[in-house]
Amino acid sequence: MMIEQLKRQAAAMALTQVQPGMRLGLGTGSTARHFVDLLGEQVAAGFDCICVPTSEATARQAAGLNIPLSDLDTLDRLDITIDGADEIDPHLNLIKGGGGALLREKIVAAASDLMIVIADSSKLVETLGQFPLPIEVNRFGLGATRRSVAAVCASHGCAGELRLRQADAGGDYLTDGGHLILDAFFGRILQPEALSADLLNIAGVVQHGLFLNMCKKAYVAAPDGVRTLS
Ligand code: 5RP
Repeated sequence: MMIEQLKRQAAAMALTQVQPGMRLGLGTGSTARHFVDLLGEQVAAGFDCICVPTSEATARQAAGLNIPLSDLDTLDRLDITIDGADEIDPHLNLIKGGGGALLREKIVAAASDLMIVIADSSKLVETLGQFPLPIEVNRFGLGATRRSVAAVCASHGCAGELRLRQADAGGDYLTDGGHLILDAFFGRILQPEALSADLLNIAGVVQHGLFLNMCKKAYVAAPDGVRTLS
């Protein structure tokens, strides 16, 4: 089965959790894109909801589908955020941010009563860290921040490099918030909570892509069906 079909099946399962009138967080990435697409079909048929997008890309897609949009200045809480992930461990801890939207994704998930992750089964791992961990940093003081991040990562067993993300068109990749991303190649992250705290302790670090104890449900699609993890 094609991977896009699997992503869509996971997205369709998440849609079954959405009730009329809900306030939703809309994730970013190719799997979240399927969810927004399916939600757009429902909205076109008269379904009522209000949504906060986690990126400019998702905002554009949702606006194109006439999905009503708002923000977290207007809405203080959301019912459910539906988002993708780059890695999902057995405790539903995640690495996110492959698409560069980790900061807004984390803010929106933190403002939601429930975070549901949708993914194909290739995202399941025993231990986080095969996927490079995105670390969003301020451009000011990049050299100093990069050295501090490298030292923290090394103290957590990161043997690989720390790479400044580049845009497809060339030049430094910029997040929607105008920040840079360092991708850290760990292999295995054995103490994610401690790593999270140590990274957030660095002044120039804006946020990182470890989503710990945030996701309470995941729909994971494989060729033999969609599994619910919780
Ligand atoms: C974007 C993300 C995405 O949710 C994550 O990268 C998964 O994307 P995809 O569904 O395309 O595999 O965190 O910042």
